[in-house]
Amino acid sequence: MTEKDFIPQPYSKTLENGSFTWSSPSNIALIKYWGKKKHQIPENPSVSFTLDYCKTTTTVHFSKKESNDEFSFDVFLEGVKKDDFKPKIATFFKRIESYLPFLKAYHFKIETSNSFPHSSGIASSASGMSALALCLMSIEQDLTVIQSDSEEAQDFFNQKASFLSRLGSGSASRSIEGDLVVWGTHQEIAGSSDLYGVKYPHDVHENFKNYQDTILLVDKGEKQVSSTVGHNLMHNHPYAERRFDQAHENMSKLISIFKTGDLDTFIKIVESEALTLHSMMMTSMPYFILMKPNTLEIINAIWGYRVKTNSKICFTLDAGANVHVLYPEIEKESVMEFIKDELVAYCQNGHYISDQIGFGAQLIS
Ligand code: PMV
Repeated sequence: MTEKDFIPQPYSKTLENGSFTWSSPSNIALIKYWGKKKHQIPENPSVSFTLDYCKTTTTVHFSKKESNDEFSFDVFLEGVKKDDFKPKIATFFKRIESYLPFLKAYHFKIETSNSFPHSSGIASSASGMSALALCLMSIEQDLTVIQSDSEEAQDFFNQKASFLSRLGSGSASRSIEGDLVVWGTHQEIAGSSDLYGVKYPHDVHENFKNYQDTILLVDKGEKQVSSTVGHNLMHNHPYAERRFDQAHENMSKLISIFKTGDLDTFIKIVESEALTLHSMMMTSMPYFILMKPNTLEIINAIWGYRVKTNSKICFTLDAGANVHVLYPEIEKESVMEFIKDELVAYCQNGHYISDQIGFGAQLIS
């Protein structure tokens, strides 16, 4: 597939108005995406667990307008008009216009809400951009005369939804379909692409079934450094090339770990990826630190607990101070007890979110 394959044939049907609602999950990367080329092409492949609880639900109402000369839309978050969201969506519309040529023909009312608190420091760009892309895809599907529910048509729908989501936020390409999603070309993963995410195609051991993710909210403030700025700092970064190679190597290792269920090696790769992501931030110019003292307290407590109990608990981080605590389902009770007894004290106002691996986006109506 190339970009051109996502440019549609002229629409032969007309629609006056309507609406679609999708809910789309957040995801947590195990191999991190950090660094991109033009047009949101990742510098290295990444893989993530899809989350189940953390999601965005978006309704897009569309109504035909008189002229086709500009984009027209309003955005509401939890019922409140959000004009400060408009520039990001306008940029997104500009990027995807050639793939969805109906965008200027309608006025859109975009109503969105998150299952997690907006000010939790949890990035909503993956779930938010993918939910919006899916609503737009449903409109396109309705504008297309020949509709099919064949597997091929369904695959194309998901691929294009992921392709469009990527143009909104790279990690959003991994939020469409599947519990484990790969984005970025890797030579051992057939079908993997820089253009969209694909369901991880190889064997996955029982150990990873219903894998748990408890998100410890260490800092609920706005991010000090946007991920766009962070990605750009990988240009001319002294360790960039080696880092991109390492991501390919780690992906190869994960393929065999997913197959055998070797959790000890899984832990090593996942924690190393998290610390490498933050090392890249600390060694860029300008440099920055997104971890907080309590992030390190939590990491140390997790390492202590692992030595003491032989648990398979581990942590990962996204571009912020919050900690994702990952563990197998069979340890759910014991690890939750540890979290409540020892880790919650490091969370802002004691807040955390219990989540687990989920299966992707859903059409609500
Ligand atoms: O999707 P973006 O551009 O916000 O980048 C997200 C990057 C990380 O969350 C730090 C890593 C990843 O692969 O999700």
